[in-house]
Amino acid sequence: MAKPSGNGQGPAPSGADATARGEGGRQNEGGKRSGARRRKRRGKRGAGQREGAAASPAAPEKRAASGRKPGPKRQGSPAPRREEAPAALARPVFFVGFMGAGKTSVSRYMARRWKFSAIDLDVYLERREGRVIRDIFAEDGEAAFRAIETDVLREVGESPNPSLVSCGGGIVERSENRELLERLGTVVHLRVSADEAAGRISNKSTRPLFNDIEGARALCERRAPLYDAAADVVVDTAGKSVAQIAYEVMGALRRRGDVRPQPKDGQAAAEERDTLS
Ligand code: S3P
Repeated sequence: MAKPSGNGQGPAPSGADATARGEGGRQNEGGKRSGARRRKRRGKRGAGQREGAAASPAAPEKRAASGRKPGPKRQGSPAPRREEAPAALARPVFFVGFMGAGKTSVSRYMARRWKFSAIDLDVYLERREGRVIRDIFAEDGEAAFRAIETDVLREVGESPNPSLVSCGGGIVERSENRELLERLGTVVHLRVSADEAAGRISNKSTRPLFNDIEGARALCERRAPLYDAAADVVVDTAGKSVAQIAYEVMGALRRRGDVRPQPKDGQAAAEERDTLS
């Protein structure tokens, strides 16, 4: 996934590498970008690309090309497309769940709709390491990847600017990660079955642990209790659109007091006063 450069992290993966993982290009778009520019950029991106304001300390970029379908397929009537007032997060919100659950798609959707900052942990990790996950697995093994994953989870989770954080499906494997998730933020489990996930992921070669459906089923089953135990909020994703899931998550976050209206800056407040007077 391509990411904006110059964010103070290590070298970005090359174009070829960036596409290798096959996640739909994910990109954090600063809230300042104009609608026209945003539309233009969106037109160039593949499915599953990520939007949302970048959070400090780094602006994770997008996975460049699209090899992965966006999260859950749209079914039923779409959620209403109304304008939403920008909201702010009181603490980080970590999306967990099996590969293909729609963590990045839902997080991206919420970032666009409510002007949240959003970070994809895998994208952040790849950018920091200058290598795609598939290569990290191939060259150094899963244990090395897990150690880096813990490091970036802590780094992102402890940032003073809370973000929506979509985590890799294996984040719950380490007890250290589970403790970090619990201590640092609110955990949302997007529940999906391995079979449904398989239908959503078009390019499985970018996911070293999604080799065959039997293996995926076993892994998903083994992890299910770990996801649920870590979660403050659980949302079943089967048969729901990204928008539906996003609104469900937002409702749960509001009820928990994890989101609040975004304070208006001086300019916006002054404009509002002018309009009212
Ligand atoms: C993994 C999931 C992937 C990625 C890595 C390992 C896993 O993330 O972190 O390939 O162990 O389930 P996604 O869940 O975003 O595909």
